Amino acid sequence: MEKFANKKVVLAVSGGIAAYKAADVASWLTKNGAQVHCVLTKAATEFVSPLVLQSLTGHPVVQDEFVTGPGWGIVHIELAAEADLLAVIPATANIIAKIAAGIADDALTSTVLAATCPLFMAPAMNTHMYENPATQQNLQTLRQRGWQVMSPANGRLACGAVGRGKLPAVEEIEQELERLFLAAGTKAEKSDRLDLAGKKVLVTAGPTTEAIDPVRYISNRSSGKMGYAVASQAAARGAEVLLVSGPTALQPPAGVRFVQVESACQMREAVLAEYAKCDVVIMAAAVADYRVAEPADHKIKKTGDNQEMTLRLLRNPDILQELGETKQQQFLVGFAAETHNLEEYARGKLAAKHADLLVANDVSRADAGFDVDTNQIIIFAADGGRQAYPLTTKLAAADYILDAVVEKINI
Ligand code: CTP
Repeated sequence: MEKFANKKVVLAVSGGIAAYKAADVASWLTKNGAQVHCVLTKAATEFVSPLVLQSLTGHPVVQDEFVTGPGWGIVHIELAAEADLLAVIPATANIIAKIAAGIADDALTSTVLAATCPLFMAPAMNTHMYENPATQQNLQTLRQRGWQVMSPANGRLACGAVGRGKLPAVEEIEQELERLFLAAGTKAEKSDRLDLAGKKVLVTAGPTTEAIDPVRYISNRSSGKMGYAVASQAAARGAEVLLVSGPTALQPPAGVRFVQVESACQMREAVLAEYAKCDVVIMAAAVADYRVAEPADHKIKKTGDNQEMTLRLLRNPDILQELGETKQQQFLVGFAAETHNLEEYARGKLAAKHADLLVANDVSRADAGFDVDTNQIIIFAADGGRQAYPLTTKLAAADYILDAVVEKINI
């Protein structure tokens, strides 16, 4: 079968000199079986003929958001809704700025704003425009929103200058797109994919809070977003989901049974009460490793002479480890949030806690740590496997994790 059969791609072309190279990408995608719909800005048509793209892809090229025709509804909404991947090649400084600001004043930017699929761009422009803080900040914003942004290459630019800003080699772009496709699957596959139907999936999420007294506690910076995304996607894929959550600011996802806890000990009890019936347990919670040995039952007051105070902490039970040591049919997924030596620590935790998979992420990154909507994960498997995924939204990362679970439990 062709590599990209059944995949629908929106190839968005903005007006830079490198626009003609989009034709090579369009041709490569089409040859590999993808349905490619090109959307061009007005400026792009100065650099590449719509007729070239139309001939290569076999689909009409969209230049105007107000066109209609047989089978076309509102063109930018329809294109966006059906796309498995949207790629902006090349992305000019202007189009990057518009996308970052959420502007939708032509067919290309309207399609981008309406898209919910994985998003990719390959910027190309003059070095100074690329290095300008405005462009850099816009790119940072887009990365944080889950865009895959390729770094431009160094070389001789159209303006004669030599520096960073060239569109990367077409083969490199193609490699990047292939990687994204592999990770993403198609919308059609996803929408009717009930591959967790009949499975009982327990997900833990959020931090735990460990009381010092009735008004104070020790906790951590986990927002719960990753665990809530896993619970929501597992439910969408047909699982019967129980979400055991520490305190977060999030709404429990629809269709999910929800148990709210505060401390690690409460989380352990809630998990153990359900464990025997579970098929899959995904421990995304950031469980506090220590609790206060003697929490006060009244608010601790500062008195004139207590310039220092010492809290004695006791080690909390390791819930995942306990699950690992007593597991029967359950498939166990642990998480590791690390700031350094990620791979070594992740593999260590996988083995020590007898988990089947361990999802690791580097929380020292601005775009993959606490309380952001994106994540970049690496999944380690007990059989030695390792799969790194692109930076993406936490919802898409949740699907990667569930894909890995389904693959293993179906073997
Ligand atoms: N975990 C758990 N119970 C604990 C601590 C952690 O079940 N008391 C689980 C987490 O939910 C996560 C995995 O173990 O799935 C790893 O958590 P992490 O805090 O990264 O690792 P720790 O074992 O606590 O190691 P350290 O804090 O030393 O990195």
